[in-house]
Amino acid sequence: MGGTDGHDAGLPYASVLVTGGAGFIGSHLVDALLALWRAGRAPETLQVRVVDDLSSGNLDNLAGALAARQPDGTPLVELVVQSILGPLETVMEGVEAVFHLAAHVFPARSVDAPCEDARVNVLGTLNVLEAARRAGVRRVVYASTAAVYGDPRELPITEDTPALPLSPYGVSKLAAEQYCRLYSSLYALPVTVLRLFNVYGPRQSPGSAYAGVIPRFVERARRGLPLLIYGDGSQTRDFVHVDDVVQACLLAVQTDHVGTYNIATGHATSVAELAALLAALVAEATGLPPAPVEHGPPRPGDILHSVASTELVSQKLGFHARVTLTQGIRGLLAATLKRKYDHVGGPSVSETHVTLLQSKSADHDG
Ligand SMILES: NC(=O)c1ccc[n+]([C@@H]2O[C@H](COP(=O)([O-])OP(=O)(O)OC[C@H]3O[C@@H](n4cnc5c(N)ncnc54)[C@H](O)[C@@H]3O)[C@@H](O)[C@H]2O)c1
Repeated sequence: MGGTDGHDAGLPYASVLVTGGAGFIGSHLVDALLALWRAGRAPETLQVRVVDDLSSGNLDNLAGALAARQPDGTPLVELVVQSILGPLETVMEGVEAVFHLAAHVFPARSVDAPCEDARVNVLGTLNVLEAARRAGVRRVVYASTAAVYGDPRELPITEDTPALPLSPYGVSKLAAEQYCRLYSSLYALPVTVLRLFNVYGPRQSPGSAYAGVIPRFVERARRGLPLLIYGDGSQTRDFVHVDDVVQACLLAVQTDHVGTYNIATGHATSVAELAALLAALVAEATGLPPAPVEHGPPRPGDILHSVASTELVSQKLGFHARVTLTQGIRGLLAATLKRKYDHVGGPSVSETHVTLLQSKSADHDG
């Protein structure tokens, strides 16, 4: 690993697969892989393949990446539109490293539809691991979640905190983690598991139930609506910027460790503090008066406090979150305003390299 804290290393693999690469985090990861290539820190012949069924991701997230070309005109990124539940032999062909991010990402919805959730998150992950093993993939990084911890009694949450998920989503991600662990020990397929805390940043949909409080606040502030806090706002979260999560993924693909790590900042922010900060930054960006705050009844099942210990990931992977909440929200506001402009002149997806694999047994969730 190069660099003093591990953040400056390059990519040692020439062929990489990103499952869920059309989603919020996955598309930022794809962009970061291309940025490494442009900086000469990835093999010249880099090929990034994305498999995504577009059930919660979208092509706009990948518009720039799909237009990227090698000097000879070869596309750097290939998108395969299919489910991870379908046959993956072709998708996995020649792949050296896999970032597995595709998932059914709706904890609230998972309560009503636990089977659908388990199919994608458990069976889909198993299908990815098995295809990776058969294809001789050298390393897998799995995006898990802090939801595996449920409502822990002690803070900060360490990787040894008992995993007692409160939703079928958390159970399905934990089960998938166990398969990852088993594939590392039983089949010598090294898998690093990253437990992501509350991720935020550009491209996160404000409409999704999983969107979290930041995109919902941004959307309400932009529409001139009061910021709605459920309960008194003293509940805390560990908000980590998507750029930091992408860095963690890149560090994890280069490590020799096969561990499970919290990916977070290690700082707790209350929802009331977040609302005040966001209202001030929206006012700064728009020149409008700060959005007022409204309180609704507490939501049943809401976890009161969440903050991670990042000691292990700092020791083993050299990971430190770098983006402060103020910087991250400023960037998010700038991107939210810029997105409108991008859609006018951005590359057309029909000009890009999209492979449609129609699989008889493909089992789509969209
Ligand atoms: N966003 C967060 O705060 C957060 C927190 C913890 C963990 N995670 C994990 O990070 C990963 C990415 O989440 P995200 O926030 O980018 O969500 P997202 O919904 O934006 O991305 C998920 C992607 O997976 C794709 N997908 C879903 N089912 C699929 C299937 N059957 N086959 C192929 N593709 C499929 C979707 O179309 C989407 O592009 C997930 O594994 C999620 O569990 C996210």
